[in-house]
Amino acid sequence: MGPHNRAYFLAGSGDEQTASANEAAFQQAQVMPRMLRDLRGGSTEVSVLGQKLAAPLLIAPFAYQRLLHNEGETATARGAEAQSIKMVLSAQSSEPLDSVRASGPSSDWFQLHWMGSRETTQALAQMALAAGFNRLILTIDAPVQGVRDQEIEAQFQLPPDVSAVNLAQFAPPAFTPRENAQSIIFDHIAETLPTWADVAWLIKTLQVPLLLKGILHPEDAAQAQRIGAAGVIVSNHGGRVLDRAPATLSALPAIVDRVGPDYPVLMDGGIRRGVDILIALALGAKAVLVGRPIACGLAVAGDLGVSHVLRLLRDELEIAMLLSGCATVQDIRRDMVHLKL
Ligand code: FNR
Repeated sequence: MGPHNRAYFLAGSGDEQTASANEAAFQQAQVMPRMLRDLRGGSTEVSVLGQKLAAPLLIAPFAYQRLLHNEGETATARGAEAQSIKMVLSAQSSEPLDSVRASGPSSDWFQLHWMGSRETTQALAQMALAAGFNRLILTIDAPVQGVRDQEIEAQFQLPPDVSAVNLAQFAPPAFTPRENAQSIIFDHIAETLPTWADVAWLIKTLQVPLLLKGILHPEDAAQAQRIGAAGVIVSNHGGRVLDRAPATLSALPAIVDRVGPDYPVLMDGGIRRGVDILIALALGAKAVLVGRPIACGLAVAGDLGVSHVLRLLRDELEIAMLLSGCATVQDIRRDMVHLKL
């Protein structure tokens, strides 16, 4: 990656404290292994939202992948398919929905942003369902972009041939500055932002499960459960929004305690090794999502690079399970992990 792409794909917001904390939390965790257990017939398979996953691992939605490779999200989807790992397609995909969906069953999860109104958000969801996606994620932690100092310093701009092609048909909400407005940001944006009532409405209109992505507070997780979200993704957007928000691994246990062990809680942020997946599962995640490592694989070698990164993570997870005495993901228990936070 050159300096522009590094600033966009790898940096965090502000002082990058939250982005660093995500990774540091995993480095500070210790796994207590068990010996001489029967590991025959082991596997990494899990069931999430009624789908069987080969491993508790998905590719996180991330925007504008054609910046990294000329086939962008379509190449990522092929890499995912090669390893039978699910990919979540971002609403800000730079490749058309159909082209990504044509890569096979691994690319049937789609991530929505709130589109300024109930009707437009529902229209985007319907477009995804019509294209064959059948699991939806609504990202709720980025009502505005974070403070992106590194992008500003690198003078990052999208080139003319990379854009959110699937959103082109949705006109951005009209903006007329009010007279005597106190604040452009609040004035412009707040009116177009959703509240819990809007999200509850959206969930009721959908026939497929919807996960809320970007939860850090246990009470928000409980609220998501109350309004009928199919689950939550504990995430701080890879440290790209509120700098100083907690590491996702530290936020995870209190959320799982609040919503109970059966409610689907996924997490992302800072996962760089297969053993990190084991740690997140021990603390109660049903599965994890991975962003930047996939971006790096795509940048280096397209679909093959994505496939290679996924293979490494899967192999490392299996090695961590065997070395700690876990034949199945159900054997990964909370008392195996000690957090030195
Ligand atoms: C993201 N992320 C993100 N999330 C989302 O819901 N929609 C999006 O379009 C994007 N775009 C995006 C772009 C880039 C460059 C990055 C790095 C991230 C957040 C992403 O889904 C995920 O939460 C984090 O990337 C997880 O952290 P790691 O694995 O990158 O540490």
